[in-house]
Amino acid sequence: MLPQSNARDADSAIRQTDTDAAGARLSSVQKGYLPDSFVKAFVPRAHLQARPPLINVGTYVRSEGIDELVGGWLDLAEQEGKKAQIVSMGAGSDTRFWRIETGPRKGRLAAYIEVDFAEVTTKKAMAIKKSKDLCGILGQSEDIKLESGGIALHSPIYHLIPADLRLPPAATLGPALAASDSSLLSPNLPTLLLWECVLVYMSPEASFSLIQWFVEYFSHGTGPLGGIVYEMFGLSDSFGRVMHENLKARGVSLPGAVPYPDVASLPNRFLQHGFTMAHALTLRDIRRTYISSSEAERISTLEMLDEIEELELVLGHYAITWGVRLVESSNSLKAPWTEWGLKQKRNPGNSLREDE
Ligand SMILES: C[S@@+](CC[C@H](N)C(=O)[O-])C[C@H]1O[C@@H](n2cnc3c(N)ncnc32)[C@H](O)[C@@H]1O
Repeated sequence: MLPQSNARDADSAIRQTDTDAAGARLSSVQKGYLPDSFVKAFVPRAHLQARPPLINVGTYVRSEGIDELVGGWLDLAEQEGKKAQIVSMGAGSDTRFWRIETGPRKGRLAAYIEVDFAEVTTKKAMAIKKSKDLCGILGQSEDIKLESGGIALHSPIYHLIPADLRLPPAATLGPALAASDSSLLSPNLPTLLLWECVLVYMSPEASFSLIQWFVEYFSHGTGPLGGIVYEMFGLSDSFGRVMHENLKARGVSLPGAVPYPDVASLPNRFLQHGFTMAHALTLRDIRRTYISSSEAERISTLEMLDEIEELELVLGHYAITWGVRLVESSNSLKAPWTEWGLKQKRNPGNSLREDE
C-alpha cells in the first residue's frame, strides 16, 4: 500500500493523463484528422501545442475505431426499435456525447453517463456550464442541474458522476446510478460500457469487480450488454519497458496491463465474465485494413510521416477490445449483436504502401 500522500500524488498523475489525451485530440482536430468542435472547451490554454504526427495518427485511428463500434451499437439498438445507453468510465474530457447528439445518430440515446474522479468531473461540469454550445445540446437550462456542490451534473439524457472506479461499485456506482427518483440505467436497454484508456491504471482485480458488477446488474434485465476497452498491452518487451519507465517518472503505473501479454489474451477481458463474444484488434491492424482507402489517402496528405516503423511499433502496442453479452431470456435476435464489430475496408495485401 502507498502512504496516503503518495497515493494522492499518484492519482493526480493519473488524472493528468486526461489533459494529455484532450490536448492530443485537439491537436489532431486542428491538423484536420478529426472533426470535433467541442474538444476545445475542455483543453486548458497551456495545453494547446501541436503534437507530433505519430500521436495525431494514433489519436485518429483510435477515435475512428471506437466511433465505428459506438455507431454500430446505436444502429443495432435502432433495428430493435430501442434507444441505447452508454456508460463511459474514466471519460475525462471526452466529447462523444455531444458528437453523437449533433451527428446522424442524434436522438438515439436513452442515457449517456460519464464517470471519473471527482476532481475531473468538477472541472468538466464547470466547463460545460460555461459553454453555451455544450449546454444547449444537453437541454433547457432549467433541466441542467449541478449537484453535490458541483461535482455531479444531471440533465435529461447526459449525466456526469464522480466515482473512484477502484472502489467496490456497490458502494460507489450503485448509489450514484440510483440517485434520482428512477434509476439512471435500465437493465432492459442495449447498453454499451466504454473504457477508453482507464482500466490500465487500475489493478486487474478492481477491473474484474467493476465489469462483473455490470454483468450482474444486467442479468436482471433483457438488454444486450456491450463493452469496449481501449488501451496499451504487451508491455513486457523493450518498448513496454521504456513506456513503463517514462510513466513511472511521472508517477503513473500500469498494473492493468499485466494480464494481457499479447493480442490473443485481450478478449479474455470480457470472456472471463461470460460474454457471448469478444474480439480485439491493434491500432496497427486497424490503420492497415479497417480504415478505408479514401480516408487513408486523405490523412496521408495532412502531415509528413517518415518514421513508419516507429509508428507501427507504437500502434502495435495499443488495442481496441470489444465484446457483447446476451441474456438468454432476451427477445434480441442473437446474430446481429454477435456480429457487431469493426468491418474490414481493405485487404491486408491491398493496404497503402507504407511510404506512400
Ligand atoms: C487517459 S485519460 C482518458 C480520458 C478519455 N477516456 C479519453 O480517452 O480521452 C484517463 C481517465 O481515466 C480517469 N481515471 C483513471 N483511474 C480512475 C479511477 N480509478 N476512477 C475514476 N476515473 C479514473 C482519469 O481521471 C482520466 O480522466
